[in-house]
Amino acid sequence: MSEADWSAIDALKPTPIASLFDGDPDRLARLTLDIAGIHFDWSKTHLDAAALDAFQALATSAGLVAKRDQLFAGAAINVTEGRAAEHSAERGEGAPDSVERARGFQSRMRALIDAIEAEALGPVRHILHIGIGGSALGPDLIVDALGRDADRYDVAIVSNVDGLALEEAIRDFDPAATLIAIASKTFTTTETLLNAESAIAWLAESGVADPYGRIVALTAAPDKAMAWGVDETRILPFAESVGGRYSLWSSIGFPAALGLGWDQFEELLEGAAEMDRHFRLAPLDRNAPVLAAFADLFYTQVMGCATRATFAYDERLRLLPSYLQQLEMESNGKRVTADGRPVARATAPITWGGVGTDAQHAVFQLLHQGTHVVPVEFVAVVEPEDALADAHHRQLLLNAFAQGAALMKGRANDDAARAYPGDRPSSTLLLDRLDARTLGALIAFYEQRTFVNAALLGINPFDQFGVELGKEMAKAADQGGLDFDPSTQDLIARAFG
Ligand code: F6P
Repeated sequence: MSEADWSAIDALKPTPIASLFDGDPDRLARLTLDIAGIHFDWSKTHLDAAALDAFQALATSAGLVAKRDQLFAGAAINVTEGRAAEHSAERGEGAPDSVERARGFQSRMRALIDAIEAEALGPVRHILHIGIGGSALGPDLIVDALGRDADRYDVAIVSNVDGLALEEAIRDFDPAATLIAIASKTFTTTETLLNAESAIAWLAESGVADPYGRIVALTAAPDKAMAWGVDETRILPFAESVGGRYSLWSSIGFPAALGLGWDQFEELLEGAAEMDRHFRLAPLDRNAPVLAAFADLFYTQVMGCATRATFAYDERLRLLPSYLQQLEMESNGKRVTADGRPVARATAPITWGGVGTDAQHAVFQLLHQGTHVVPVEFVAVVEPEDALADAHHRQLLLNAFAQGAALMKGRANDDAARAYPGDRPSSTLLLDRLDARTLGALIAFYEQRTFVNAALLGINPFDQFGVELGKEMAKAADQGGLDFDPSTQDLIARAFG
């Protein structure tokens, strides 16, 4: 694999952001974009003409366009696992046979949803979705963002193996009207299978005659689901080539499709497809995932920033930061290139964040005056949903905008404790409204941005071997088959005697 040329990036020197606006009336136009109902603004970053040129050169030397084409063509770009990464095919943007296969699986999901709505599986009022990581975070984000007024079903999503999570989720559920969706790409995940067993036991203990008849499996391993006891007719498969953290578009999105309705799910897919088409076709200097990745890499590579923070200035998007943590850190938290050589530079920054305005009163002190420079992303929505919007929404949005301005501008003061250094970068994503279509586009934007970062760094964003060792050791400990270090042995003895 040819080496990407970072020399122009390594030579970049940041110019104070505020001064980049001086004498450049085109800055806003060059660093803003409007796509799929989302306004993107990178003008309050250090990206200047020299940086944009340097990143364009990097993109050329890293073969970004060819890698993007391979992604959409269904080439086996997940080289360590020897498979393609076909989440875009789920929304109709991919190799024709992959799109057709995805459509087939979706028809199957739709038919089962129709049957559930017609009460063919018995009465259903509550959906208990059990999954973890990518099998929970995406559906949770969507249901939480769009399902606030949905009165079709109560949806609870349980991920943690801590029994309290399950207990709390089912506390108000009527077992006779509960459908359990077991979401696991591999159908081997310990937490998910234990939670599923306990949920089935709860149905049985509550007198539900055929607990297994109340189970739906969402998986890329239908054989394992069947061996586990799920009836073939209630298995909703998806392709092995859809990665776990990229799987909300597949049957893993079942609680969203059932909870919000099929039309909403299709809108979500269509919004994502619109972002995919933009990513696939727009020139690199007018391409949202590409420009975002340029800014990301400016901060990790040129300014040495170890973290990046996303603040959702909308209660409906409160789960976005935790969704992004898995997407970005599990994808790009890597230390070797796709062909197995050590990466000579920083890879993914630590993704964190919170909800505005709460976060302003908790962590923004560090953002304004701490010693770490943290690139911040504000995500806000123009159209409110709440009944109190007249009084509240203006305050919410003005706070988001003012924080970005304050971070950039700073304020001098003879008293050092009261001085703000300024020149702190931020980007803003302003959604016209939060509906299924715009949310689909937003999530697809983040997926493709993660891909561009990986492509430029030469790493594989689609494997996650880093999570395996701890899992294996926990399993071995459970079976008493591991000679642990003295500290770990001591902890086990204290917990279990
Ligand atoms: O442990 C990491 C992981 O493999 C994630 O990548 C995945 O989203 C999660 O576990 C759940 O896996 P599964 O869907 O196979 O249960």
